[in-house]
Amino acid sequence: MCGIVAYKGHKNCYPILLDGLHKLEYRGYDSAGVACLAENGKITVTKRSGKVKQLEDGLKKNNLIENCNGSGIAHTRWATHGKPNQVNAHPHKDQSGNIVLVHNGIIENYDPIKKFLRSKKVKFKSETDTEVLVQLIGYFFNQGKLNFEQSVRAALQRVDGAYGIVVLNKKEPDVMIAARKGSPLVLGIKDKEFFIGSDISPIIKHTQQIIYLEDAQMTIIDGDEFKITSIDEDLSLPKKVEKIDFKIDDYDKGEFKYFMHKEIHEQVDTIRNTVTGRTKKGNIILHGLLDYWHEIKQADKIFITACGTSWHAGLIGKNLIERFAKVPVHVEYASEFRYNKTLVDNKSVVIAISQSGETADTLAAIKKANDCGAITVGICNVPGSSVSRETNCGIFTRCGHEVGVASTKAFTAQISILYLYALKLADSNDSMSKKTIKEHLDFGEGLKKIKHVLNKENEIKKIALKYKNANDFLYLGRGLNFPVALEGALKLKEISYIHAEGYPAAEMKHGPIALVDKDMPNVFIVPKDKTYEKIISNIEEIKSRKGKIIIITDSKDKILKDLANDLIYVPKTNHYMFCVFATIVLQLFAYYIAVGKKLNVDRPRNLAKSVTVE
Ligand code: M6R
Repeated sequence: MCGIVAYKGHKNCYPILLDGLHKLEYRGYDSAGVACLAENGKITVTKRSGKVKQLEDGLKKNNLIENCNGSGIAHTRWATHGKPNQVNAHPHKDQSGNIVLVHNGIIENYDPIKKFLRSKKVKFKSETDTEVLVQLIGYFFNQGKLNFEQSVRAALQRVDGAYGIVVLNKKEPDVMIAARKGSPLVLGIKDKEFFIGSDISPIIKHTQQIIYLEDAQMTIIDGDEFKITSIDEDLSLPKKVEKIDFKIDDYDKGEFKYFMHKEIHEQVDTIRNTVTGRTKKGNIILHGLLDYWHEIKQADKIFITACGTSWHAGLIGKNLIERFAKVPVHVEYASEFRYNKTLVDNKSVVIAISQSGETADTLAAIKKANDCGAITVGICNVPGSSVSRETNCGIFTRCGHEVGVASTKAFTAQISILYLYALKLADSNDSMSKKTIKEHLDFGEGLKKIKHVLNKENEIKKIALKYKNANDFLYLGRGLNFPVALEGALKLKEISYIHAEGYPAAEMKHGPIALVDKDMPNVFIVPKDKTYEKIISNIEEIKSRKGKIIIITDSKDKILKDLANDLIYVPKTNHYMFCVFATIVLQLFAYYIAVGKKLNVDRPRNLAKSVTVE
């Protein structure tokens, strides 16, 4: 999704903004632009469709990069209203050329405002909803009755929808204004320098002192000073400065060509980090839930809501909670939950899972759950994110920043948290003995064996390359491994653009089997558990239709060897760890198919890292 970076200080802003735009590239975009307001009061806007590199080349060609001490705003655009071209790229100016703005989100009532402004002889250059907003600010300012801050406030009070904006005005060159509603914005502070980002990635290199703007807040930076106010009225609010401890390393690929590859490998540490310190002598300590645990353990209904990969983690969570704690769980896509008549009430717990913590549908689902009086629990990777702030309580996955658009390490961390949650609930409602819980918490061996799975990389690569030209895949698993199959299929679709479907293995014969022919690879996830024999029958059914069989298993039985065209063994472990191992295999499998097809794994077409629009 769109990204914002802005700088105000004494340094040349171009290098800071361009570096920031590069850091934001992971979010997905189709054009980029930058506007600088120099000390002499001149605003220079440069925009390009395509990559930040093209913007950078354009700036170099015009000798601009060396050239601007002052304030600057920059943007990567992921098109919603209007084509992805140079005219529609941000920043946008008002008609007078005084005011310039970047915007994330969608202005829903742009059409009537545009009609109104046209009636006032305002001419539009782009097809965007964003230009409507900057023209509206300009309309108020240029009437001469309101100052810049008042004009921004007046305009924002008239727009519906979601926004994170940063605005400059050459008539008040010392001032930079940022505001948010629905779309996140972060303010970084370092002495007399200010940095604004749609997330912390463009800021972290410069400062760890951060203020997460809250919904419906704005910040007005004037010279070396700043204030936080609400959008509704000019009343100074407290400045909640936090120190963030994200590492700069998270934004560096190190020895890896792609972030996704690095992040797959990081799972050796991220799963460990996520569980470490959260268990002690058979007890599970989830500090973030402490204040609400009494109510949580008594809730008679549990809902899990999320999108994409996080939703797959939710399906695993359901299985674990029902298995361990014997409480029924309903899992629903956040985009459906927000509109369905789901039976949430003040005796429900709603668990919202989100890597980014900024997914619009998940936030809307949380709002609905809060409105219904449910206890909302966030499982989220980004401290300070909207999910972490909008939920009553929560648990952070501790995997560091995930840059690759295809989620990997966040998924395995999410299921690790859900595993702890399920066991803690089982402990609280006495549905499992202390002894069994203790056994389940013995992660030692399993965590060590993640390395062995990653060591299979070359073997997985060879198999992946063999199938890279297939057009369709089926991924099949049962029980806990059905969501793993869904996740494997999603990974392949996202980064290789190959059509793939995940199904419960037995469900395949109720329709999808019609697709099977000699060219179709079928990936089976086969742990040696009580479903083993049944899955073998499912494999036989595909085999007899000449489908290619790829098996991921922890069983060395001859029967699998005979059935498989390709076999990937993972170390013996428990149910939960098997899921993790199989997931890692499927992540590497998708990765190598995409690399084999020479695709940009970190920035798949049409996708955005955090989906901040509905
Ligand atoms: O940040 P979130 O976990 O809320 O994101 C949800 C989905 O948009 C996300 O998982 C998406 O499906 C990923 N691209 C999956 O790789």
